[in-house]
Amino acid sequence: MKLIFATHNQHKVEELKKIVPQGIQLLSLEDINCREEIEETGATLEENAKIKADFIKYKYGLDCFADDSGLEIEALGGAPGVFSARYAGDSKNNADNIQKIWRELEGLPHPVAQFRTVIASSIGASDSLFEGLVKGHLIFEKRGSGGFGYDPIFIPAGFTQTFAELGDAIKNKISHRALATQAFLKALAHLKS
Ligand code: IMP
Repeated sequence: MKLIFATHNQHKVEELKKIVPQGIQLLSLEDINCREEIEETGATLEENAKIKADFIKYKYGLDCFADDSGLEIEALGGAPGVFSARYAGDSKNNADNIQKIWRELEGLPHPVAQFRTVIASSIGASDSLFEGLVKGHLIFEKRGSGGFGYDPIFIPAGFTQTFAELGDAIKNKISHRALATQAFLKALAHLKS
């Protein structure tokens, strides 16, 4: 079975290739010669994941899935959410994104936040959504050198270190992306058996 991961991020594809059930050939957009940038115009992570999966489903008629992730801060009503990558502008500057969040949260002692990932899949006639989330809080300094994005300012619940300090080995077990992926792979394994 061929399964398309609707992403141009080869790193994400290689990571998943190691854990998909046997008999599934995981392909990226590059692998099917799709060079287009699929515009993420949705208002929610669910909509954006679905937009990307539907694009492949209708254009190529192939089994596929797509993901979308974001940081959701309680005191900001769930922002930056779908705008996590470009919160401070289209240049997608991570340092600026963090500065903007710090400005907006100024004076708040323990800002509660969560990372959330949604995976939209389209396998045969069946469309599904899977979710993974990790709750935690934000700090007003950057700590750690691992990970990316908001990792240096996010401490997951039950830990004292940031995602950037915890490193990939721990993050990949407890992260929003890991949890959503596990839920999806579990469903996929049922489908294959
Ligand atoms: P994407 O949907 O995986 O491309 O994530 C969109 C944006 O959300 C990223 O550019 C980051 O700003 C933020 N983000 C998502 N996942 C993480 C994470 O695991 N750590 C830090 N930031 C993240």
